[in-house]
Amino acid sequence: MNYSSIAGTGAYLPRRVMTNKDFEAIVDTSDEWIRERTGIKRRHIAAEDETTSDMALEAALQALQMAKVSKEDIDLIIIATTTPDKVFPSTACIVQRRLGISGFAAFDVHAACAGFIYALDIANRFIKTGGARCALVIGAEIYSRIINWKDRGTCVLFGDGAGAIVLRASDQPGILSTHIHADGRHEELLHVPAGISSGYEQLQQEKAFIQMKGNEVFRAAVGVLDAIARETLSVNGVQPGDIDWLIPHQANLRIISAAARKLDMPMDRVVVTVDEHANTSSASIPLALDVAVRDGRVKRGHLLLFEAFGAGFTWGSALLRF
Ligand code: COA
Repeated sequence: MNYSSIAGTGAYLPRRVMTNKDFEAIVDTSDEWIRERTGIKRRHIAAEDETTSDMALEAALQALQMAKVSKEDIDLIIIATTTPDKVFPSTACIVQRRLGISGFAAFDVHAACAGFIYALDIANRFIKTGGARCALVIGAEIYSRIINWKDRGTCVLFGDGAGAIVLRASDQPGILSTHIHADGRHEELLHVPAGISSGYEQLQQEKAFIQMKGNEVFRAAVGVLDAIARETLSVNGVQPGDIDWLIPHQANLRIISAAARKLDMPMDRVVVTVDEHANTSSASIPLALDVAVRDGRVKRGHLLLFEAFGAGFTWGSALLRF
């Protein structure tokens, strides 16, 4: 049985930045309200002709470069996204073609904001069982396309971007454990009601956009993030004090702080990017990881805890030695 470990990270953020002030001209909101309730200051918004695969590709190229891995060594691509370029083929197949490689498995994973943890869980299992040796695991999202720009309760919360890792077979662990869960009973608390089988024609109407009961989602997120962190620590016999960096899904600074407080983790050991990126769904953890690796906070040998929560509900975590 092999282990898997992260050989490199990469990220891409669209050039256009929208500040909270910019939203004051669109909906009845204020910079102060958004900062206080969410911690968000600004977010990146994709250009009109920019796609999820454009962003995923850029992040992947950076991760390959850091890992010093040639694209010909890749034998698995998994992209976590809920905003694919097309209904089909998968964005992973599109990125594979654009990288100029082929033949091995490439597919998308759809688990909303927990998508990157789901993708990491799957890639880790492939590598541990010998099904792959070098995987590109990417989270990439264009939520600006599914935002209702008239709904102040949701439009200020999201941003676009992509993050990627190269996950490679290793004789040292790497990924110590991954944990993924779902509870489909909460479908209508956070969803985009339109879809392929339930009203494709509604894709130009309000049902094509995010609808959320923010308060209830908030409470659920804080509860399950605490539970998943405890599950992960207990399986590995690790104490919160052993963790060098908590890298949570970046939805709301208040959710992140509550999760850290419950674990007794000081905020100076928590990677926070929600202020700069807002919620980029399945891209948020690999984006935050890449920021902290490149600015030197996350170093080789550090013990990292990832945790995420999203629509479904879905949630998950990973404990790993970087
Ligand atoms: N600007 C100004 N006021 C706003 C606003 C905005 N952008 N959005 C909502 N409000 C208003 C509401 O209309 C409400 O007004 P009312 O009291 O007159 O009805 C008031 O602010 C309070 O709304 P509420 O929803 O109770 O605020 P909140 O403190 O719960 O914060 C969220 C709202 C959305 C920021 C918060 O619930 C949240 O972050 N939830 C989790 C969302 C999330 O992370 N989703 C993704 C999970 S992956």
